[in-house]
Amino acid sequence: MTASSAFDMLRESSPAVSVGVLTADLLSLGSELALLERSGAKVVHVDVMDGCFCPMMTVGPPLIKALKTPLLKDVHLMINEPLNKVADYVSAGADIITIHPEACSHVHRVLQQMRMMKNANDPERGLVRGVALNPGTPLEVLEPLLDELELILILAVNPGWGGQKFIASAKGRVEKAKRMIAGSGRNILLGVDGGITRDNIADVAALGVDLIVTGSAVFDGKAAETNAKFMLEAVKKGVGCQVSGVRRQ
Ligand code: DX5
Ligand code: ZN
Repeated sequence: MTASSAFDMLRESSPAVSVGVLTADLLSLGSELALLERSGAKVVHVDVMDGCFCPMMTVGPPLIKALKTPLLKDVHLMINEPLNKVADYVSAGADIITIHPEACSHVHRVLQQMRMMKNANDPERGLVRGVALNPGTPLEVLEPLLDELELILILAVNPGWGGQKFIASAKGRVEKAKRMIAGSGRNILLGVDGGITRDNIADVAALGVDLIVTGSAVFDGKAAETNAKFMLEAVKKGVGCQVSGVRRQ
């Protein structure tokens, strides 16, 4: 990658595959990350769950800090009231931080606050501020936030676990979000998270998104590096279908 900001790196790699480590071997995370690096992936996705907004509890800033990797750290905060917590994730080295309006009393304020923060890995790299929407949240929630975010993440599953089934209505929501972004005239990345497997990743790439999160399809306990390579190749094929105009519906 030649770009210097995290945002430009993502644009340059679009559609980038962000690999979720929720189902990786957390006791061997260093070697799991090495597999990802070898596969050619550029982004690692960490699902932070607090046991309140999500039924399960996962990891916090110390784990983010412990990830020694050149991969961009994509931190998905599925936690209640992140206002006073985001700074710890930024200090721990997050490059992308995504929050949920469903979990915030003051979502606009959290985004404003993040605009003032510096990337702890490299201040020149900047932070990518993301807003994720659950499958049941109307996209209109995004409209007042469009000047304070760099990434919209459409969830294709309800927050909670890896390995859930892709909710079909997410495709229409992606199309709607694309129109919203185009209409705003702003430079905003669009991503999809949840239920993305070997069978549907090319179709998701063909939707014209910039970031595709996939977890259990890569870390299935068998062959993470091969799986990640498969997903990266499948994305290229999906984009090829889009470009050649033979996109499957
Ligand atoms: C859902 C998480 C997703 C999910 C991805 O709660 O935000 O990142 O774990 O995992 P898969 O790809 O297994 O759906
Ligand atoms: Zn996630």
